[in-house]
Formats: sequence, structure tokens, C-alpha cells
Amino acid sequence: MDFKQEVVTALAAVLTDEVSEADIAKLVETPKSSAMGDYAFPTFTLAKIRHMAPPMIAKDLVEKIDATPFQEVKAVGGYVNFFLDKVSYAHSVLTTIAEQQDKYGDLTLGKGNVPIDMSSPNIAKPMSMGHLRSTVIGNALANIMTKVGYSPIKINHLGDWGTQFGKLIVAYKLWGSEEEVKAEPIKHLLEYYVRFHKEAETKPELDEEARAWFKKMEDGDEEAKHLWSWFREASLAEFNRIYKMLDVDFDSYNGEAFYNDKMDAVVQTLQDKGLLKESQGAEIVDLSKYDLNPALIRKSDGATLYMTRDLAAAIYRHDHYDFVKSLYVVGGEQREHFQQLKAVLLEMGYDWANEITHVPFGLITANGKKLSTRKGNIILLEKVLNDAITLAKQQIAAKHPDLENADQVAREVGVGAVIFHDLKNERLDNFDFNLEEVVRFEGETGPYVQYTNARAHSILTKATAQPLPEVALTDPAAWDVLKALGDYPNIIKRAADTYEPSVIAKYALRLAKAFNQYYATTKVLTDDAELPARLALVQATSDVLTNALALLGVHAPAEM
Ligand code: ARG
Repeated sequence: MDFKQEVVTALAAVLTDEVSEADIAKLVETPKSSAMGDYAFPTFTLAKIRHMAPPMIAKDLVEKIDATPFQEVKAVGGYVNFFLDKVSYAHSVLTTIAEQQDKYGDLTLGKGNVPIDMSSPNIAKPMSMGHLRSTVIGNALANIMTKVGYSPIKINHLGDWGTQFGKLIVAYKLWGSEEEVKAEPIKHLLEYYVRFHKEAETKPELDEEARAWFKKMEDGDEEAKHLWSWFREASLAEFNRIYKMLDVDFDSYNGEAFYNDKMDAVVQTLQDKGLLKESQGAEIVDLSKYDLNPALIRKSDGATLYMTRDLAAAIYRHDHYDFVKSLYVVGGEQREHFQQLKAVLLEMGYDWANEITHVPFGLITANGKKLSTRKGNIILLEKVLNDAITLAKQQIAAKHPDLENADQVAREVGVGAVIFHDLKNERLDNFDFNLEEVVRFEGETGPYVQYTNARAHSILTKATAQPLPEVALTDPAAWDVLKALGDYPNIIKRAADTYEPSVIAKYALRLAKAFNQYYATTKVLTDDAELPARLALVQATSDVLTNALALLGVHAPAEM
């Protein structure tokens, strides 16, 4: 049942010629406090039309509105406040959730394939906090897109091609050892790479050699290809350890190298359409009419670039997946790159480029400082996750010393805490990373939501659910829980429309808080007429919290 629609309908019946139903729907608000009603209609817009004072209009509307579906309709200042009928609201929300279970909140906002470019770390370098953000935001968006009807395709566009691999090969051949790379690939490959940069400062011939090796790679030289694929596999094995801990998988690992044999066609098309210009020996596409810097397509030595590979990838995804939307979850610092990508595709005559959306996100800092691989200010992801698990384990041992599967639960809580902390922040906000804060069981954390769900579970194990009679839940704290539960479908829609998982994380915190307030003031397991309704409320809370966490990619252990 759509309760907002009831309010809109009641208003529309008395405002026929003045405000359209669609505009009424836009004006109806949800007051901050339930004391001000469940929905409110501000009369200020109408005041301008009628040339009357808003409170007068509010009084006039209250007299005319048919209040039968509501508990009360009241004029307060310039607002008409609607109080829903609590018995029918409670019954409707609780039976809907009981019937639909994890399908509650499913919507059909659209259909069709939606490739999501996500994670996409660079081979031979540690996965950064930025890649963690891309991984968990992308994964949550994939879950949300599924919930609203689309078919997401999770693509890990690995950074596995480019001039840096020429440098890496030179460095490996000069200073590397097979044993080292086998033992700890990323650590040592990074060492060689850093050393290369240091030595190249005084020995420019190293850069020459590196260019030559990358050229060999692009031309398919056996030795170059062999080294490259070894570095790639070894790095990927390390990344996969982290993905496994995060419980994130991909539908495709087609990275930059995959497009190596697909770029000539792109360059050819650009040429045929007269879009390619020469500038200082390199080939570019001029984008001044979009107010953008030119897009670099090919260097003077013929080497292709990040942009060239992204053009080929965009076209491939369009042809291969016939997408309805194409998302790129990549840090805000690449905003211009994606503007250029779209602009070049539009210049090529591909209208579908309008369905490409860059979903940017902010930076994670440590003690207020920007993280940088080059300056050594890095946070190693695997260590963060392991530390989070250790912290979770300590807290669980204190709270619940005899818990079975304590190790498994600690993993779900520790890793879940890191994911939740990332997702509760609005995507574009920068935030500081402090592990102790992330894994706390109180406050706005993932463990707090998980703990609330476990608490609901423990109540449910002590009782058997019964058929739901039409009774009111008299406790005012129950009303806030019910309102939050009824809001879930709107929350899903808002998160999907704005590509913003934080909407769901914030909602989970709100529902958990409302439930804890309810639990603190109400004895659920008292044998009276309201017991079945209270149990249904607890069950619904647990179902919705579990579902919301699952959308974020966070597990919800039954005990912790
Ligand atoms: N590997 C890149 C980086 O770490 C991100 C790639 C993003 N995806 C893309 N299609 N450009 O910066």
C-alpha cells in the first residue's frame, strides 16, 4: 500500500484546478518528527496562487479534505499535517514484508544490461584504498541495480597494459629475481619499479629501453609477452585474495590488454571521420568545442594510451553487451578523462555514449593526509582487513565468549565494518580512515547494525511467530520502526537513481537506531494481544536490515 499516494489523492480531490497531482506529490514532505504528522503539505506555493495567508489556506484545506483514511488531518501554521491510521499502516507494512521477505523493496525501474567498470587495480602495484572504494561501491551498485530490475555486469578493467610494463621488464631484467617475484610478487615488482624511476633520473637510456620493451609487448614479442603474463597472473593471484576476503566477484577481468588488438580499428575510424589531428608528433582529438583538453590517442612512437584503450573498451561493451547504461566507478580525479571519453564517442557519432555515467568518489585520507604510493604513504588493504578481523574478534570474545563459529563471525564483522564505513559516507566526500572507529560496536558503524540484527534474531529464537491480527502497536517507539520499514522501497529508488549506496547505509543506521529505542522501552516477549504484532515487527526489522546489509555487500550473522 502506498501511503504517500493516499495523502496525494486526498489533496488532489480538493485542489483540482489549482495544483496538478504530480506537483502535489513533489510538495508533500515527511516531517522530521512524527509529532508533526507522517506527511505534511506546505501551502506556501498555493498562497501565491490564491493571494491568501498560508495558515488560512491550511485551515481551509483541512475543512474540505476527506479525512476518513487517516487518523487525523490537522492545520499547523502553513502546513496541513496528515497522521496515518496506525493500525492499517502497521498491518499493511508487516504483512507485505512477511509475504515478500527478501523481495520486499524490489522495483522495476528498468531492464537490460548495465556493465559496471569497478575495482580495476593496476598490475604490479598494491591495490590502493581508492581501488577498495571502487570495489565496494561498484559491488553495492551492482546489487542495487539487480534489486531495481537491471542485469549488472561487473567488469574489472585491470590496469595491465601501458608503458609502465616496459619499465617493469627493464627493471626486472636488471635487478629482479624469479624467487622474489614468486614469493611476494607485488612487493618486489613495486620495488623494481621504484628503483627504475630513481635510476632513470640519471640514466635516460633506461627510459629508451623501456619504450622499446613496451613496443615489443605491443608487437607480440614472445619474451615480452611471457614476462608480462607472469607479472599479471602473479599480481592477480594477490588481488584475488583480497576479493575473496571482501566476497566480491567479477563477470569479466578484461583489462586494458584485452583491447590491444581492438585499437587499430578505433584509430582507423577516428581517421576516417577526420577527427584525428597531429599535435607535436602525437595524434589527438580536438575537444575545444566541449571546453575540454584534447584527447591523446597515439604517441609519437605509435604507442597507444589509456584513452585509446578506454575508447575500444566502451565500443566493445556497447557491441558485446548491448547495454542500456554503462557505469564507471572511478575516483573523482579522473573526471576529465571520462568527459573526454564521452565527448570523443559522441564525435564519432555514437549516441549511446549519452548512457555512459562516470560514478566518481572522494579520497580516503589517513590522519588527514592524502595517501600516495610514490611517497610511501600507503595503507595496505590486506593488512587493514586482517587488523579489522582481529579487532572484531577481540570484541566478540568480550561480548559473547562461547560463540560458535567465532572466527567466521569475526571475519564477517571485521570485513563488514570496513565495507560499511566506506559506504556510509556520501560517495563524493573525502573521509579519514581510523580502524578503531570503523570496528566499534556502538555509533554509526556496520557492527552496530549487525549487532542490532543479531539482537532481533535472538528474540525470535525465543518465540514462535503467530498469525498477525489487526492490532495497533501502542508503543510510540514502534511507530518509528514501522515508518522506517515502510520507507524501504523509497530508499531503494533513491539509492538507484543517484548511484549512492550511502542512502542505504544511512537508512540501515536509522532503522537500527529506531529498533534499539523500541527494544529499550518495550518488553517484546510479554504474552498479550499485541505479541504477534510485536514479533512480526522484530522479524520484519531483521529481514530488512539483513537485506539492506546484503545490498551493501555486508553479511548479517545471526549471532555475534
Ligand atoms: N586502473 C585505473 C587506475 O587505477 C582505473 C581504471 C578505471 N577504468 C577505466 N575504464 N578507465 O587508475
